[in-house]
This record gives sequence, structure tokens and C-alpha cells, in this order.
Amino acid sequence: MSATVMLSKRILKHRWLWTQVTVVLHFLLAAVVGVHGQAVSLGTWEILVNNSGIASMHAAVTRYGTVVLLDRTNTGATEIALPGGACRDSDDLVLKHDCTAHSVLFDPGTNTVRPLSILTDTWCSSGQFLSDGTLMQTGGDFEGIRKVRTFAPCPATGTCDWVESVEVVLEAPRWYATNQLLPDGRQIIIGGRSAYNIEYIPPAANGLLYFDFLNTTNDAQNDNLYPFVHLLPTGNLYIFANRDSIEYNYITNTVVKRFPRIPGEPRNYPSAGSSVMLPLLASNQFATVEVLICGGAQYGAFLEPWTQKPCSITCERMTVTDPNPIWVEERMPFARCMGDMILLPNKDVLIINGASKGSQGWGNAIDPVLNPVRYNPYAMSGSRFTIMAPSAIARMYHCTANLLQDGRVLLAGSNSHQFYTFTGDYPTELRIDAFSPPYLSPTLNDLKPTISVSPLQISYGTPFTVTVITPTGMTTIVDLNLMSAPFNTHSYSQGQRLVSLNVAGSVQVAQASVYQVTATAPPSPQVAPPGYYMLFAVNQRVPSTAVWIRVASSG
Ligand SMILES: *[C@@H]1O[C@H](CO)[C@@H](O)[C@H](O)[C@H]1NC(C)=O
Ligand SMILES: *[C@@H]1O[C@H](CO)[C@@H](O)[C@H](O)[C@H]1NC(C)=O
Repeated sequence: MSATVMLSKRILKHRWLWTQVTVVLHFLLAAVVGVHGQAVSLGTWEILVNNSGIASMHAAVTRYGTVVLLDRTNTGATEIALPGGACRDSDDLVLKHDCTAHSVLFDPGTNTVRPLSILTDTWCSSGQFLSDGTLMQTGGDFEGIRKVRTFAPCPATGTCDWVESVEVVLEAPRWYATNQLLPDGRQIIIGGRSAYNIEYIPPAANGLLYFDFLNTTNDAQNDNLYPFVHLLPTGNLYIFANRDSIEYNYITNTVVKRFPRIPGEPRNYPSAGSSVMLPLLASNQFATVEVLICGGAQYGAFLEPWTQKPCSITCERMTVTDPNPIWVEERMPFARCMGDMILLPNKDVLIINGASKGSQGWGNAIDPVLNPVRYNPYAMSGSRFTIMAPSAIARMYHCTANLLQDGRVLLAGSNSHQFYTFTGDYPTELRIDAFSPPYLSPTLNDLKPTISVSPLQISYGTPFTVTVITPTGMTTIVDLNLMSAPFNTHSYSQGQRLVSLNVAGSVQVAQASVYQVTATAPPSPQVAPPGYYMLFAVNQRVPSTAVWIRVASSG
């Protein structure tokens, strides 16, 4: 290494350290002073597993509360053996005879992992739960590029495993696509590298559909990958790629609206922004829908990774249901790319993981952002962001973040290298940890509700009642929020949604702290496509642990 390179590396490292010092000071001030002059919680971290065996790249929480974690298969040997001493003989590029697992099931109840069997390459695949709670995962690379795989979950003590279909294959080869569960229970699969098209599973009669929007949003770094897709309560799809977005009627295959170009950086893979549809609210009849997109990488950061360009510091928010929608910009406390945006049960958005310079891709980013930030969409503009306590673990490229049933956020993976590499600045990360947002602080236990009785299934538009217990009683009516379990990969959670229900009222029963809360199920499968959701009761912004509930048509 030449002296100049070493010198500039050292300067970069110093500058980064200085940024971290400023962040820590800021954080300490906030922690010490707080809003009312008393200490406030900024969340806590806990390492749950030191060696999960694999570096998680894709992850989803099942209706039994377990978490499916997946890596690619062509990484060489992982650190966990396949179940039952099995081995895989395949055309794998790296290891033709491989006795290690590339997917595991994590059980938050025991903090243990169980190896799962997956044989074809899942690299940069996509996925989503089906209405019956089965996880469907599609595509990948090499021999896996047209595969359809399903995981029918079982209780944590069970032995359920992946099934790779030989009958059903994708019509187009896909990696970097996005899946979305539709109101009729089908999944739509949109795009991917060199795939300017759409298909459905089960397949549509008219087969593969050319999708011009992905052709026109392509550029020299393929900034149209892993498009952000949000199913709107109208039944149309909001689709964002690169810097453009549309409202798409998939039934008539027409673009019904084109939105203004987003200011700033490209936001999808490999430019590493993220997006959520803000909570859908019964209080406005699900008529107002907002999309939030945060972070991203500068154009060129991927093509010239050695330049390590600073990531985007902006969030852009748009009311997509407005007749003349515009992007409204807000500045995050930190520039960030590869941040995951996780909806929390109290309707906040957590922005977590990522780096402050570079883009997605192996070795393309430096300077991890260790502090998550919490965004309260309903606070006054200018006071929406709060810096949370920092993680001890850098998670940048190829990592995952998922909301658990108990309100924690589970973090796994990070691998900036092509193969498992445990040396250097950003080694392959096999640890699993969890971030507990401030609402889990024991000082709030007096407010924390418990759902003691709830139906297993609710029907569209129909009232239902749950029994809620709070230790010191409720001063306001609790919210009941349904949350999907999305498929998280590459800094974006496919199929993530929060549906805040219409709560008619609470009746105090038996003791002072027991309430029967009556709410109306979502009005339609456009608002909440059929499937399993986590139901949280939220009392003054403090959520319960969720119960799983199936949303379905009656009969
Ligand atoms: C992980 O390793 C650290 C350091 O060796 C140790 O202190 C900690 O207890 C371990 N945690 C778990 C969950 O095994
Ligand atoms: C994409 O658009 C270009 C320019 O209009 C066109 O030439 C090309 O055929 C399109 N690609 C596909 C796959 O249709």
C-alpha cells in the first residue's frame, strides 16, 4: 500500500472517529437531560446469539414468532451443519459437496437456531407470506434464478423445513425483484435485474407482462432493482424505482398516475435507500396514504466505489392520495445508506443499520451508522427524529432487520465480502442481536397493555372484541394496530404494512384494569390482504406483545 493511500485512509478513519465522538456526545446529552430534565430511555441492545452459523441476507418472522434467516448458497461452507448430517451435491459455483446450511430458523423464545435445508441459490431473491401463513420465496441466482420455494411454519419445537418446487418455476429469471401479496391472495412479482416485467404466482393466464416503467427507470448502475412496492387501499400499487414512481392498476395493467420525481439521490438498489408506507388509518377511512423514503447513495457511488461518496441525509414524504402530490423533504440526523425502515407498533418508524458513505455491493461502503433514529410521523415537523442508543455491531451490506412479536427489532447478518471473511475492517457478521425501542423500558411497565383474549380470525368489516389488561388502568382508549410480517432483504421490507383499526370503545369489566375493547376488522382485502397479522394493543404509545390473528373473508 502506498504512503498516500495509507495517509488518506488514516485521515478518513480520523474523520469517522470524530463524527462518532460528536454522535456520542449528542447522545449522552440527550440521555442525561431528556425532555423533562430526567433521564429518558433511548433504547437498549442485547446480543442473543454469538454464532448463528450464517450471515443473514433475507429474513421473515413466522406466525409462530420464529424467524427464518437466509443467506446465499454459493458462499462456501457456513458455520452450521445441515440437519441430520445431510450434504448437498450440486452445481454450486463454490462448493460442489457442501454439508453446511445456508438458512436457519431462529427461536426468540430460546435464543437458539435450527439449520434448514435449501439447495438452490437464493442470492438476491425476494419473498412474502401467502394468505395461509406459508412463506413463499422466489428466484435468486444461478440454478436458483427461477426457483419457487415455500416454508410452511410450525411451532418452535417442530421440524418444518423448506420445500423447493420442481413443478412451479418463475416465468422469468429473477434476482432483485419485489413481491407483494394481493387482495385476491396471489403474489405479484415485479422486476429484477434485466427483468422489465411482471408475473404472478399462481401464474396469470396472460403470462409474463412487459413493464415499461422498469425499462424507463433503468440506468447505468441499474437503479431500478428491488423496486419499492406498496399496496394502496384503492387496490392499486404504488411502485417506486430509481427516482420515479407510479400508481399502477394491475387488474387493467395500466399506469393510472405518475408522481413527481423525487429530489436528490436514486433510492433503490444499489443506491441503498429504503421506504415505508406510513400507517393506514381507520380514523381517516384509509383515504389518506403517505409514502416515506429515506436515505440513498449518490449516483456514481456504485460505479466508482473507491470514491466512497457520502450517503443521502434526506427523507422525502409524499401524500400519494393528494390530487397534486409533492415530495416534502426532511433532514435525518445522519446521512445513511442501507438503512432499514421498520414500522413500529406505536406508528413510529425506526431507521436502523447502514453506512454513511458508499453504496450497496461488496466492499462498497465504509463508516457504519451505529445509532438508529426513531421518526415519529405525527410529531411537529422539525421534531420528528430522535437519535437512539448506538449498537456495538456494524451492519451494512447484506443484513436484516425484523420487528418481533414482543416489539423488539431483530438484527442479523452483514457481509461486505463475497465469501465469509472474518478479518479486516468489516468482517462477516454471524451474531444476532435485538434492539429494544424506548417503549420497552421497564419504567413504562405501568402503561404496557396485555392482550389476554382475542379471536384467532377476524372477517373484513366485522366487529370483534379483545380483552386487554393494563396494570394501572387506561386513561385513553387503546389503539389496535395490525402489522404484517414482511420479507426483509437489502434494506427494504417487502409487504410491510400497519393498519390502525377503528376502535369503537372499551368496557371495563371485572377488575379495574380489565377492559373489553371492540374494534372493526379492516374493511377490505385492499386495506389488509388476507393473511396472518400481529395484533398490538397500544396504550399511550406503549405497545403490548402482539397476538397473531388471521384476517380473512367470512365463511
Ligand atoms: C457472546 O460472547 C460474549 C463475549 O465472549 C459473551 O460475553 C456473551 O455472554 C456471549 N453471548 C451469548 C448470548 O452467548
Ligand atoms: C426498453 O426501451 C428501449 C427504448 O425505448 C427499447 O428499445 C427496448 O426494446 C426496451 N426493452 C425491452 C426489453 O422491451
